Amino acid sequence: MTNEGVDKSKRQFLTSALTVVGAVGTGYLAVPFLSQMQPSAKAMAAGAPVEVDISKIELGQLIRVAWRGKPVWILSRTPEVLEILESDTEKLADPNSHESDQPEASDNPLRSIKPEIFVAVGLCTHLGCSPTFRPEIAPNDLGSDWKGGFFCPCHGSGFDLAGRVYRSVPAPTNLVIPPYRYITDTLIIVGEDNTEAVA
Ligand code: FES
Repeated sequence: MTNEGVDKSKRQFLTSALTVVGAVGTGYLAVPFLSQMQPSAKAMAAGAPVEVDISKIELGQLIRVAWRGKPVWILSRTPEVLEILESDTEKLADPNSHESDQPEASDNPLRSIKPEIFVAVGLCTHLGCSPTFRPEIAPNDLGSDWKGGFFCPCHGSGFDLAGRVYRSVPAPTNLVIPPYRYITDTLIIVGEDNTEAVA
């Protein structure tokens, strides 16, 4: 894609994007890849579930693990983010995620077992590019209406921090939520579904 194409995609997205109604906290950090949490190559090849210690994830931080050869994101959402996600749904294509793919335990508007921890497959539902994590409010390149989310640079699709796609972009559905469950409050396993969350 040419730069002109990317810019056009961004403009198309941003013309249909949202009005900023609040500020996201500034706790977002760089995106580490938790290699120490990866299973063996043999286990990965077999598609084994992946245990992830989430006790060290800082507020606002996104970490990445691999499951079945796919990137899986785990995001610690701030109270400010949750407020935006709950209050500003007007421009979303499927705000209640009725038409999208998630396990029963995450079949809710915030698309998670626990509101503060978001888990998603990090692949765009258009043609499978990996969207970028863009939690900042109104960055120069995405415009004043951007309130934090995931932006796919391939064709300009945008998703909020619940993985919900905005209207009028190429991606047809929300980001996919993988099966996962809590083993303890600070340990989750990706690849096994269980509708019971640890309180
Ligand atoms: S692959 Fe993401 S917008 Fe096309």
